Amino acid sequence: MTNLIPFPHMPAPAEPPPPVLLSVTDLKVHFPRPRNGLMAKPEVVRAVDGVNFEVRRGTTLAVVGESGSGKTTTALAVMRLAPITAGSVRLGLTDLSLLGDEAMRQARRRVQMIFQDPYSSLNPRQRVGDAVRAPLDLMGIGTKAERAARVDELFAAVGLRPEQQHLFPHQFSGGQRQRINIARALATNPELVVCDEPVSALDIAIRAQILNLLARLQRELGLTYLFISHDMAVVEHICDEIAVMYLGQVVERAPRQAFFARPLHPYSAALMSAVPTVQGGRTRAAQRIRLVGDPPSPIDPPAGCRFAGRCPAAGPGCEAPQTLREMQPGHWVACHRVTRVDGQPVGPLQMPAAA
Ligand SMILES: Nc1ncnc2c1ncn2[C@@H]1O[C@H](COP(=O)(O)OP(=O)(O)OP(=O)(O)O)[C@@H](O)[C@H]1O
Ligand SMILES: [Mg+2]
Repeated sequence: MTNLIPFPHMPAPAEPPPPVLLSVTDLKVHFPRPRNGLMAKPEVVRAVDGVNFEVRRGTTLAVVGESGSGKTTTALAVMRLAPITAGSVRLGLTDLSLLGDEAMRQARRRVQMIFQDPYSSLNPRQRVGDAVRAPLDLMGIGTKAERAARVDELFAAVGLRPEQQHLFPHQFSGGQRQRINIARALATNPELVVCDEPVSALDIAIRAQILNLLARLQRELGLTYLFISHDMAVVEHICDEIAVMYLGQVVERAPRQAFFARPLHPYSAALMSAVPTVQGGRTRAAQRIRLVGDPPSPIDPPAGCRFAGRCPAAGPGCEAPQTLREMQPGHWVACHRVTRVDGQPVGPLQMPAAA
């Protein structure tokens, strides 16, 4: 064996980040509410109220936030299944918000969605093989033989046996049904898959299997995920970047490591303080932050910081609207009380430095 002289350590050249696939800009989804009588002022539910984010090709952006913060509505707007009041949703070079019906029908093969409830998202009277083939039939993709071969391939990819295609949904467990939903979502070979709480309805024991399946499919197929969840432990496991929503807006956006090491927004700190710490070394809130009360109504949100009414760190300046500021490369936060100490960003509820 030859003696190799080790090279002095040279940092590997940094790989350029993958290109942006999904770009959401100033997205608003406002639902008009029926008037309460002729003289009443018309009201709108500001479900999504000025949301910005990007997802790079082949990566996962997790969207978190409590119930009613607008996660599902954002996802549906990306899919063009909720009406876009303002702003844009760009997939590569295509602005989905501007497409007419036929162009959207064509674009739909590029974006697919997996829903939370594996039970209600399958037609009980349709054989599951037919359900997986349905998007191909609908979009007229391939010959009959090619579609049948594609369904075989998809069943194998998600870990189901080919003969199971002839069964009905009730003959499967929740985890298997979610595999069928994943196969159906992948039928058209999409670039972006929107996953809305894909494992929340499943038994704990099954969740890891489905998450591992999603991760493997992402690696093998280069998929891009917009992954909605309220489970920070799941999110920490699967995402590259995270966006925290509060009352229709993104209050913090960061690469995974930066966020989990140091969530800056008081709302993010509160979400994280509820997660049991597995190992030390994290700069988290000194103690559990208990949020009191409910979020304000999306019909009449506060003019300033929307979280101020529940924020333990609220004070002067919070009555002004907050905009996202980049405190470190890629780490954005909408709170004027986030500062820098020795070049490091520090949130108002955090200890200044990691112990
Ligand atoms: N079609 C609709 N018409 C009127 N209001 C709606 C509609 N869809 C959603 N909303 C309202 O918009 C807000 C955001 O709802 P959304 O379902 O997006 O929240 P979410 O973050 O997904 O919550 P959850 O964690 O419970 O799934 C809520 O106040 C909800 O009541
Ligand atoms: Mg939802």
